[in-house]
Amino acid sequence: MRGIDGLGSMSQNSLQLIKRAQQARAKAYAPYSGYKVGAAILAEDGKIYSGCNVENSSYGLTICAERVALFKAISAGQRRFKAVAIFTDGPATPCGACLQTLAEFSPRMEVYLASREGGVKRLNLRDLLPQPFKIEDNQ
Ligand code: THU
Repeated sequence: MRGIDGLGSMSQNSLQLIKRAQQARAKAYAPYSGYKVGAAILAEDGKIYSGCNVENSSYGLTICAERVALFKAISAGQRRFKAVAIFTDGPATPCGACLQTLAEFSPRMEVYLASREGGVKRLNLRDLLPQPFKIEDNQ
């Protein structure tokens, strides 16, 4: 797979998740920014759901790849997740809106950041968003 060679230490499951994110990226609808993103999320039961960014001529209606993947999973009945992989052009971290949305369900999931430039960064969602908004904390 181009871009993520030399990752001998990664498990087959992680590589599979990254591959699904890369495949989803190919479906991105990004005519305005030209920036294509793919995401794949691994539910606790082992199922994978993928998504791409979907832009709109009314720019603010654009939805990120991470949320497309997550919402597909949620609408299939999933609620708990082990990991998410994101595949972009160059190394990038998910936007704050996506971090908050992911944290709603599994604030400690693993996050794999992969790009066409190669290499994969493995992080935990809690490191990217240590203090997600929780309604209970604000009542
Ligand atoms: N985008 C994502 O899909 N995920 C992110 O976490 C950040 C940004 C998309 C939205 C838009 O289509 C393009 O990347 C440029 O912002």
